[in-house]
Amino acid sequence: MSDPADPRDAADTADTADTADTASTANTTDATASSHNATDQQATVPSTDAEILLCIDITAERCDEALDDEITWTLIELGVQNLERQDDETWSELVEEPRPRARGAVRWRIHRLPTEDPDDAIADAFRAALPDDERLEIVVWRRDVTGYRTAWRDYFKPARVSDRVVVHPPWDRPTGALAAGAELIEIDPGMAFGTGTHETTRLCVAALDPLVASGRTRVLDVGCGSGILAIAAVRLGATEALGVDIDPDATREARRNAQVNGVGDRCAFETGSIERTEGTWELVIANILPHVLRSMSRELRARVAPGGHLLLSGILASEAPLIEQVFSEAPFRHVGTERLGDWTSVLLVREP
Ligand SMILES: C[S@@+](CC[C@H](N)C(=O)[O-])C[C@H]1O[C@@H](n2cnc3c(N)ncnc32)[C@H](O)[C@@H]1O
Repeated sequence: MSDPADPRDAADTADTADTADTASTANTTDATASSHNATDQQATVPSTDAEILLCIDITAERCDEALDDEITWTLIELGVQNLERQDDETWSELVEEPRPRARGAVRWRIHRLPTEDPDDAIADAFRAALPDDERLEIVVWRRDVTGYRTAWRDYFKPARVSDRVVVHPPWDRPTGALAAGAELIEIDPGMAFGTGTHETTRLCVAALDPLVASGRTRVLDVGCGSGILAIAAVRLGATEALGVDIDPDATREARRNAQVNGVGDRCAFETGSIERTEGTWELVIANILPHVLRSMSRELRARVAPGGHLLLSGILASEAPLIEQVFSEAPFRHVGTERLGDWTSVLLVREP
């Protein structure tokens, strides 16, 4: 049994509901959930055969930058995973109406697998670890995610994700002729993030082509998910790629996907974070949430070889200026920021 007094237990993997690929489904539940209070949600949890996730909502009313940073960094330092942060800009009226919190409030939501620990004890443990501030409210509730793990399959269709790359699931292989030079990549993300169709992934795949065209490029993919970026990099010309991910399901799926796509001998995947890697790489890619990118900025920059590139994605347009600033300190230079929908990718070069 986990220790209810230790909020780090929230790092338990509960890997579906917070991935952007499944976000539409997950957010639909948010919309449903938002019309109930937390007690209602607990009372309506089905008792049999249901897949239940524990949600820990930390809401800061009238949140200012200092409190925002303090909470975010405390949660990062606690090693909390499966964390979503939402503020006025990321709140979506499409899926969260009625609005679940007051204007100016920031909400962090943590998903974890339920344990025998009482919800009150979990809330108390977070309360003890976080700043003592009257604006903070912590609510622990349960969410029925039965069927979510596979619901995304209905929406995963073959898609052209860049000029040259077409991805498709194993159960829907395109039959028509491909354009000259096109690369067809089969991806089954399983439990991992990365069908290739999300804007954050598309931005990376589009950037890959010119970056790896020389055919001499070695690529490090931090937060590899299904392996889509490492596989696409090699198929587009990179010599080799190493992917790392803290989620063991992801590295397992990535290995399998690399084999299926005929690049298993040039792609390696390891479970863990960037600390597991050493040396430098001509191209380092990381498509991860901005607060995680910031927390590993020193290591990400250190892994880029002189003259090499750093490609960051997973960044909402409103957050791009901060990421550009954090990462473009010498010897790095900001090359450009690309946008697709609400998302951006930031490309930097390390001066030789
Ligand atoms: C948005 S997904 C990106 C997947 C894939 N690279 C793509 O572009 O579609 C982010 C991935 O980063 C992983 N991740 C989160 N924090 C991490 C960390 N500190 N170190 C390594 N991987 C991390 C998650 O498990 C997830 O698989």
